[in-house]
Order: sequence, then C-alpha cells, then structure tokens
Amino acid sequence: MGGKCLALLAGMAMLAVGCSSGDPGAADGAVDTPTVAAESTAAEADGHPHAAEGAGETLLVIMQRLGTHMTALTYGLMTDDSAMVAKGAEAIAEHAPIAPEELERIQGVLGTEMAEFERLDVEVHDASVRLRDAATAGRTQDVLALLGEVQRGCVACHSQFREGLLTNPSR
Ligand code: HEC
Repeated sequence: MGGKCLALLAGMAMLAVGCSSGDPGAADGAVDTPTVAAESTAAEADGHPHAAEGAGETLLVIMQRLGTHMTALTYGLMTDDSAMVAKGAEAIAEHAPIAPEELERIQGVLGTEMAEFERLDVEVHDASVRLRDAATAGRTQDVLALLGEVQRGCVACHSQFREGLLTNPSR
C-alpha cells in the first residue's frame, strides 16, 4: 500500500464536493452511519494524487468527521456489525483532502515537520484500509489489532501537532 495515496493532502477531490460542513453533533452518541458509500466508490477508482485542485476542507471539518466515523466504527464493533465497522474504516481511509488555503496554514505552522505530519496521515490511511479489509473478511482479532494501530496513529499526530494547529485554541 505504502504511501501511494497521500490521503490528507492530495487526491480524491470528489470526496469534498457536496459536503459543506462537518456535523460534530453526530459524534455525541447518535452514532449515525456515515454516508460515504457512493463517495468512496468514486475515490477508489481514482488513484490520481493531484485530483484535489480547488477542492478540499479545513482540517477541523475533516477531523470532526473522522471522530464521527470512529464512533460509528466502534459502535459497529460492539454490536457485532462488521459491515458498519468496514464502512467506518473506509470513511476514515478516504477522508476529504485539505483545502489549499488550509494546507498553507498547516505548512506555515509546521515547517519542516510537515513531512512527519504527512507520514502519520499515510499511516492512518494504510491501517484503516487494512482494518476495512479485516472487517469485511470477519477477522475479528485482526480488526482489534488494526483498530489499535489506527488509533495510535490518530493520537500520535494529536500529541505532536494538534495543539499547535488548533483552529479554536481557546476551547
Ligand atoms: C496527521 C495528523 C492527524 C491525524 C493522523 C489525525 N488527526 Fe485528528 N486532529 C489533528 C489536528 C491538527 C487537529 C486540530 C484541528 C484544528 O483544530 O484545526 C485534530 C483534531 C481532531 C479532533 C477534534 C476536532 C474538534 O472538534 O476540535 C478529532 C475528533 C479528531 N482529530 C479525530 C481524529 C481521528 C479519529 C483520527 C484517526 C482516525 C485523527 N483525528 C487523526 C491532526 C490529526
């Protein structure tokens, strides 16, 4: 898989269209099933790394959605619903690209640490693709191990970069 898809920074413009804002409310126990099936299919057919020109979202919106998908995924795991787990993992893997202005903001803050930020994004992407495949195949032990891997990636990036990049530092 390695690095083929710089999910956060590059391709998959189609994921960004038609979604104007995040809905963090859905993460508060409502456990919506993520509505990403059609988008994901489109993204999969497209390996082009520079398809995102002009499209994209702020990091905050992308992250709020990741939080929602993670909540849905773990709910699926606890209710023995492997389709829900697979769908959540897929949505995490195929998140929208960062909008160009937002990318500038991030680069401005991170400088040379941008490479590490990208590496962690790719790591989460690759692990969540494998998590989706394990869920689809019903390999529960692998699902558990890979969920740990995905979450370690989320938390690794947060512990290094979240504070410096907060959109609303006062919260
Ligand atoms: C490459 C770095 C990186 C990775 C990987 C990453 N995050 Fe984040 N995350 C951030 C940053 C930076 C913020 C702060 C964004 C802001 O405030 O603009 C954030 C914020 C968040 C927030 C808080 C949003 C809010 O409303 O303030 C949630 C929830 C979140 N991330 C979930 C996740 C989940 C779930 C994963 C893994 C599937 C993940 N993130 C992976 C960098 C990352």
